[in-house]
Amino acid sequence: PETGCLSIVVLGASGDLAKKKTFPALFNLYRQGFLPSNEVHIFGYARSKMADDDLRDRIRGYLSQSKEDIDDISSFLQLIKYLSGAYDDPKGFQTLDKAISEYEVSKSSMEGSSRRLFYLALPPSVYPQVCKMIKNYSMNRSDHGGWTRIVVEKPFGKDLTSAEELSSQIGELFEEPQIFRIDHYLGKELVQNLLVLRFANRLFLPLWNRDHIANVQIVFREDFGTDGRGGYFDEYGIIRDIIQNHLLQVLCLVSMEKPISLNPEHIRDEKVKDVLSKQERILKIPLSSSMVPLTCFVLPACLSATQVLQSVLPIKDEEVILGQYDGYKDDPTVPDNSNTPTFATVVLRIHNERWEGVPFILKAGKALNSRKAEIRVQFKDVPGDIFKCQKQGRNEFVIRLQPSEAMYMKLTVKQPALEMSTTQSELDLSYKQRYQDIVIPEAYERLILDTIRGDQQHFVRRDELKAAWEIFTPLLSQIDGGALRPVMYKLGSRGPAEADKLLERAGYVHTEGYVW
Ligand code: BG6
Repeated sequence: PETGCLSIVVLGASGDLAKKKTFPALFNLYRQGFLPSNEVHIFGYARSKMADDDLRDRIRGYLSQSKEDIDDISSFLQLIKYLSGAYDDPKGFQTLDKAISEYEVSKSSMEGSSRRLFYLALPPSVYPQVCKMIKNYSMNRSDHGGWTRIVVEKPFGKDLTSAEELSSQIGELFEEPQIFRIDHYLGKELVQNLLVLRFANRLFLPLWNRDHIANVQIVFREDFGTDGRGGYFDEYGIIRDIIQNHLLQVLCLVSMEKPISLNPEHIRDEKVKDVLSKQERILKIPLSSSMVPLTCFVLPACLSATQVLQSVLPIKDEEVILGQYDGYKDDPTVPDNSNTPTFATVVLRIHNERWEGVPFILKAGKALNSRKAEIRVQFKDVPGDIFKCQKQGRNEFVIRLQPSEAMYMKLTVKQPALEMSTTQSELDLSYKQRYQDIVIPEAYERLILDTIRGDQQHFVRRDELKAAWEIFTPLLSQIDGGALRPVMYKLGSRGPAEADKLLERAGYVHTEGYVW
């Protein structure tokens, strides 16, 4: 592993994201020994004037309060220094640079390079100016090597054009390997498990395709509304807030082909691979006469590779249901005539050899009757089923991302009794039970550690982001223009009944009476 000074700069240090996610994640890394005090220094930067201790006090309340942690909390907070300045003021960033350099000099006896990580816990509107300031005044200039990396988080734009504009502005200042676009769903334990589940289990390999899978649902439900975030949310809506990023990233991992290796770039290649790039790869194979058989051999393998994001067909109006919960517009920061959906079910169709005809149903909603996120892969009916006359359901493989991480496989089995009858049951891997002594790391904790290690596997690459916006921009512009309107649903309900009907039309078969 690399050694040397590591300076972590949290910009927007007094904001919500920093307090609730960034600093607690840093603390967890510190507590586990990933941020050794002799190598690491943390700088908080924001506009408000305050003393180091004021920031420390603000953060303290968000750190784990268990008794064993008290000493760790005090020593962690001592690593944090606060600087105030504007986000477009050279002076502020020169002062920041000086503070980091002083710390680096004080540690100059340490072997190794110096590393600077800038975490932008800020609204994206200021990303370009902040990036410019970092680039001009606060980069690592050490003779001993090292790096400067920046971490940014969604919303990356509001549509294809604005996202591309933001990408080019940042892209002019930093190289892609320096930019870490966080989608925190990629840091969740069970999302990270998808690659292993799919490609390390013989059981799934032959079944994971249109011959066996009837439909896939990727679902996000929250049992609270936009409490306190109405202003932000109304500008974006549920598709930009959850579906275009979190659920689409999960879709990629469920549907993409096997990457050539675990190399982060190979994995990210598979998520965006398109026909053109495959043809390019085919053409790159040298065509000497002795190579012809090899070309013939390679061609089908290339063609069978998924063209996941760029193979998603345009979304059809009749495969979208939008909803807005009753009471959403009571929030004084939400306009009375808001057309913003707080719920959406959208069917995506992937036009390739593996997935043609299999609906991928993405569903997300706020203010529903439960809080959970899960992937539900429903298999087709058994052909020539001799048990058909008995009540039973389809096989389903469910991956529960949260709460209570689990995965279970719904099966039809014999009802234990003298008589021969069937029932639905499951093979169940519930993490709490199976991994009793293991604390599952928080998404942000894992992703920040990846940033320090320079591993971009679980971050969104620029071309992925573009492809994601290409899928949703036409639908979003219809919603923004008022051509598609949400139906109302009751706060604390399942969401609009129309969404269940769409699910049925897409071929999902509900098993009556089965409860996991
Ligand atoms: C964020 C959204 O990205 O994810 C929020 O902006 C949402 O609206 C949150 O509540 C959900 O994250 P998690 O990890 O609680 O599922």
